[in-house]
Amino acid sequence: MKILVLNGPNLNLLGSREPEIYGKETLADIETQLRTCAKQLSADIKIEFRQSNSEAELITWIGETRRVYDGIIINPAALTHTSLGLYDALKAVSDLVPAVEIHLSNTHTREKIRQKNLTASACVGQIMGFKGFGYTLALQALIETLSNRR
Ligand code: DQA
Repeated sequence: MKILVLNGPNLNLLGSREPEIYGKETLADIETQLRTCAKQLSADIKIEFRQSNSEAELITWIGETRRVYDGIIINPAALTHTSLGLYDALKAVSDLVPAVEIHLSNTHTREKIRQKNLTASACVGQIMGFKGFGYTLALQALIETLSNRR
């Protein structure tokens, strides 16, 4: 089972970026925890973990997932609130490659602009508000979704 984990703009700054909101863990810490969780769940899970500050690059990566990856975990970061292109990309592959959206913070409790979400409706579900731990929850949710689809 191959899972693509995508992280959007500014998530490369985790650890030093507003730690009271996003937590003290770096993206590398989160990747390590996710890989540990994947190993515990099944030896068969392969994780590809990427970050980009470029909307175009993220869209291209999503478009290349068909018949390569079984599922996507995505934190679209600020693009959650603005990117119809990212929504379209997720929707375009969703028949074959389901996605779970993850946010470190609970965006519902934050500024009004963050309550607008363009991407979640192209995903099977969403996890938010549990900081880095949410990535392992997202992995479990995705694996459950994939096993129910088979
Ligand atoms: C975020 C929430 C977004 O509103 C914000 O722009 C981010 C991170 C989160 O994980 O909580 O960059 O996606």
